[in-house]
Amino acid sequence: MALLYKADPQRGARWRQLFAEHAPDIEFRQWPDTGDPADIHYLAAWQAPDDLATLLPNLKALLAISAGVDQLNLHTLPPELPVARMLDPSITAGMCEYATWAVLSLHRDMLLYRNQQQAMRWDEHTLVPAGQRRVGIMGLGQQGQAIARQLQGLGFALSGWARSAHQIEGVECFAGAQQLPAFLQGCDILICLLPLTAQTRGILDGRLFEQLPQGASLINMGRGGHLVEADLLAALDSGHLAGAILDVMQQEPPVAEHPFWHHPRIAMTPHIAAMTHPDSAFAVLLDNIRRHQRGEPLTGQIDRHTGY
Ligand code: GLV
Repeated sequence: MALLYKADPQRGARWRQLFAEHAPDIEFRQWPDTGDPADIHYLAAWQAPDDLATLLPNLKALLAISAGVDQLNLHTLPPELPVARMLDPSITAGMCEYATWAVLSLHRDMLLYRNQQQAMRWDEHTLVPAGQRRVGIMGLGQQGQAIARQLQGLGFALSGWARSAHQIEGVECFAGAQQLPAFLQGCDILICLLPLTAQTRGILDGRLFEQLPQGASLINMGRGGHLVEADLLAALDSGHLAGAILDVMQQEPPVAEHPFWHHPRIAMTPHIAAMTHPDSAFAVLLDNIRRHQRGEPLTGQIDRHTGY
């Protein structure tokens, strides 16, 4: 029985070692060297190969190597195939670090100070205490909750929004489309961590921005598909939004002419908020294989209808 790995080839070498050491009964194969496809029961992947059912006829489960699974094009996969997201503690830790850095950068006006430095200007701006800065988190799963805990420690005023109702100590929680306007009007800094689904594609658009308070900022660390980029540009250029920090883009990397590259009130990073680390993710992946072998549900198994 074999597992096929189809993700970052450099980290593949470490995955191979970990399987050899801790799970020698599972043969590790790295894309594109599939060997006899009939042996392959598990696929660990960032993106699935086309025509999976024909290519891997005995596939039992697809174990994503990422926290988000939209890039797998779920609708093209066999409908009964179990698919699990990667709940690697390193991903959560990375998302917490990035969110903290981005919130503090916006809170402490670092986009403005970056521009001032370039213009050789030494102007100070009044500090807002963290308790008066309202940070709203869209997406209250494992990562959203960990980020909320971290930001609580820094004293920010926190709220959260998700499709379904949540109760999180110290976080004012809102749920569903009906409560979205009430949530948005209390966000000075909005963080998007949502899964990308048919319902959330393009959710960060002009209508949403209008409902944020004047001078609010955006952090997108979900997927590029959440953001209507032209609407962000309009909201920044009209002065309604003050700034944006973006780790994900519609097209990665953006084309050379993309207006965000040189925008004074946008900071971009190349989808690095978090990364799956084989050393912490291996235990999660192996546990899921063992669960599947015992006929138990997978950790992080997604609902094929909702897509997350
Ligand atoms: C990265 O974007 C992930 O979904 O893990």
